[in-house]
Amino acid sequence: MGSITFIEHDGNRHEVDIEEGSSLMQAALDNSVPGVDADCGGECACGTCHVIVDKKWASVAGIATEVENQMLDMTPEKAATSRLSCQVKVTEAMDGMVVRLPEFQM
Ligand code: FES
Repeated sequence: MGSITFIEHDGNRHEVDIEEGSSLMQAALDNSVPGVDADCGGECACGTCHVIVDKKWASVAGIATEVENQMLDMTPEKAATSRLSCQVKVTEAMDGMVVRLPEFQM
């Protein structure tokens, strides 16, 4: 369908294939992208799947829900375009999207 690039805090890039309807978190896990821990398995309950969406792609990724934002408020590296990757459903429009990973998850 397309691909998304995850960029680690040290600049390492991981381009992964995406599948519509899956989550951004699942795409990272399926491709062993380091830095996405996803301790709660995608339940929006741990905050360890934090990603920072490239500003150009922010509108495509959408905005965080209130519950998601409460989790993100606890992450030290929260940015304006932060999302919990388990809450981002992959769509065709995300082909080419770039997201950055924080240095530390919670
Ligand atoms: S995997 Fe736990 S909040 Fe996303």
